[in-house]
Amino acid sequence: MAKILVIHGPNLNLLGERETDIYGNQSLESINNKIKEEAKKENHEVEYFQSNEEGKIVNKIQQANDFDILIINPAAFTHYSIAIRDAISSIETPTIEVHLSNIFSREEFRHKSVISAVAKGVISGFGSHSYILAVQAVKNI
Ligand code: DQA
Repeated sequence: MAKILVIHGPNLNLLGERETDIYGNQSLESINNKIKEEAKKENHEVEYFQSNEEGKIVNKIQQANDFDILIINPAAFTHYSIAIRDAISSIETPTIEVHLSNIFSREEFRHKSVISAVAKGVISGFGSHSYILAVQAVKNI
């Protein structure tokens, strides 16, 4: 049993409507429900947070010491937010970086993640199932 904080970064509130060829048809709410179902199997507790604002995400990460695991899709911030990277570095909570798309098979500017070096691991490219794989990884961390 673990307490998991799931953070979704900018524009992920538009999942299901936004670039569905890349990100799929599922809404964020439906993905969160699937995460909850998977978490239940191991009696994990899950809290969700979505923001389009970097500072709000930093503030939330700073409170994540109360959680056993942080699962984060930093979205576009993945590629340039040193503030989010530093926030992850400053907490003890192991962090799993998640992406719906395979960032390495897309535009070159997406190939670099400033977050990965401070993450426990990275899951990228499995659509909404990336989050499920992250939840499954929790029991082995
Ligand atoms: C993303 C990939 C990012 O490059 C992009 O900016 C996103 C979503 C993904 O989940 O595939 O917003 O993090």
